[in-house]
Amino acid sequence: MTPENNKIITIDGPSGAGKSTIARLLASTAGYTYIDSGAIYRGVAYAYKTRKNEETIEELLRDLPLSFEFGSDTRVTLSGKDISSEIRQPDISLLASSLSQKQVVRDYANAVQRKLARQGKVVLEGRDTGSVVFPDADIKFYLDARPDERANRRYSELTMKGSGPVLSAVKEDMEKRDRNDSERAIAPLVVPPGAIVLDTTGTDVEGVLSMVLAHIEKEDGS
Ligand code: DC
Repeated sequence: MTPENNKIITIDGPSGAGKSTIARLLASTAGYTYIDSGAIYRGVAYAYKTRKNEETIEELLRDLPLSFEFGSDTRVTLSGKDISSEIRQPDISLLASSLSQKQVVRDYANAVQRKLARQGKVVLEGRDTGSVVFPDADIKFYLDARPDERANRRYSELTMKGSGPVLSAVKEDMEKRDRNDSERAIAPLVVPPGAIVLDTTGTDVEGVLSMVLAHIEKEDGS
């Protein structure tokens, strides 16, 4: 099943809710492009970390040699250097979450997403893709799961990537990010108006994907 026309589909939710796995699978099933908006915030955070003693965030964003390739995997380069795995480190997760509270950073990330998604056929995934970036998206999802399960998923994901995390530290980082992302003044994590809310606790990837596809089919038929 593929969505009809050149749709914009958004998937928001907290970390560990299964958004990126589902967004990637949905995009490949539909022949759409998967846009991982978190990678934009992470790329900015990585650049800021390497240059923060020389530049303010405003100066950095004015002329930032950051580029993104959104395909089945997300590739991020800074001044031609591939930083795709560096941006996944836990210190960058926290820095991205804290920098994402700044309007200037959000303006930058929103502009990148809007430019890429203009012609449709995209699945955008993040914290505000349906509430702020594309409030008029064709179909909006909000994925959530119980905090323990989200922390376990995040832990397995990091373990698989070989970063040797400690479960209690993963839980603590996740709670901190949840607080930052939901309580910030600008574009906090919320259920976008009109979004389909799915609780993925106890459901495997195939199960969640079928639920998402069933909703798309229903929307296409209505
Ligand atoms: O989805 P992620 O874990 O890669 O995102 C990293 C951080 O970037 C997240 O904690 C908050 C920020 N972010 C955001 O504020 N808005 C988005 N649409 C995506 C990410």
